Amino acid sequence: VRIGILFGGPSAEHEVSCASALGVARALAGGGYRTVAIGVTRTGGLRLVPDVVLAELRDGAGTDRAIDDRLTVTGPPVELRAGRRPGTAVVTAANASGAVHAELDVVFPVLHGPFGEDGVVQGLLESLGVPYVGCGILAAAVGMNKVAMKRALRAEGVPITPHVAFDAQAYRAADDPEKLVVGLRRPLFVKPASMGSSIGISQVAEGDDLAAAIEEALRHDQVVVVEQGVTGRELECAVLGGWRPEASAVGEVRVSGGWFDYRQKYFGDADPMVVPAVLPREVTDRIQELSLRAFAAIGGWGLARVDFLYDEAAGELYVNELNTMPGFTAHSMYPKVWAAVGVGYREIVDRLVRLAFA
Ligand code: DAL
Ligand code: MG
Repeated sequence: VRIGILFGGPSAEHEVSCASALGVARALAGGGYRTVAIGVTRTGGLRLVPDVVLAELRDGAGTDRAIDDRLTVTGPPVELRAGRRPGTAVVTAANASGAVHAELDVVFPVLHGPFGEDGVVQGLLESLGVPYVGCGILAAAVGMNKVAMKRALRAEGVPITPHVAFDAQAYRAADDPEKLVVGLRRPLFVKPASMGSSIGISQVAEGDDLAAAIEEALRHDQVVVVEQGVTGRELECAVLGGWRPEASAVGEVRVSGGWFDYRQKYFGDADPMVVPAVLPREVTDRIQELSLRAFAAIGGWGLARVDFLYDEAAGELYVNELNTMPGFTAHSMYPKVWAAVGVGYREIVDRLVRLAFA
């Protein structure tokens, strides 16, 4: 089986994706798979990333937890098209020694954020007819869009926090942004509808500038979601599987300064993750049950990480969001919560590849 690893991409999570791809590439190589690394540039171009560059990234970038500007995509341009054999794709690269072709049996899109995690790439791969790892078009699209995701979760009775959503036009038409968030208690979280890694998100406490937070979110998306904050713990659970998916151990993210922003996610000194989270048995059970329900609500396939807010005092759990291609470095939460129940990184990757063919 030859696997194409797609990574990088035009989203703001380019470097995160490169770091995740290193982990996946290493695990696939260790599992005896043949891989072709196809990088997506920041402008959406495809490049054949030579193994030597992957190796360089691996060593040059220090730890694979640190997100580094050197993590980027270089190599000769490639074309990706349907293979002559049904169910395959072909990558063709022109280099000094002529054209190189490689047939792919499956593609692993290790891409985060819009373009790679929202159904766009999934649609491309569907049109080529090649199997791919992870969620299909619909689940990816619903999972990436916080408005659609909340609707899907609510429809299935999965608890979510009070929120409102509006677009740029409604914001410009409003004489007072406060009128858009009537009924929500501060602190508020103002988010672009489609984005990941907390990019474009602001916390708005009493006395903070709501308009500035909305403007910031609108730099990333035409639609903004404003959520009522939950004072409590941030818990995460991983889902893996197809028709009968399984939920992992529960992990906790210990945040400093109120919430787990981009800087803490990727540049923090201390490891903020506690795995497994220290919780009463029934809370863990409930999180696992809700994770599977949330995964089913979006029609998930393969994998997702489900993020929770836990108001311990009130005993309330809320699903904050699903990530259909969660951070996948060796130090990321997704592999950590599986390791806690005896499922190693290589086994996860192996199961994901098999699920692509199911
Ligand atoms: N969006 C990042 C990669 C995550 O959810 O882990
Ligand atoms: Mg996310």
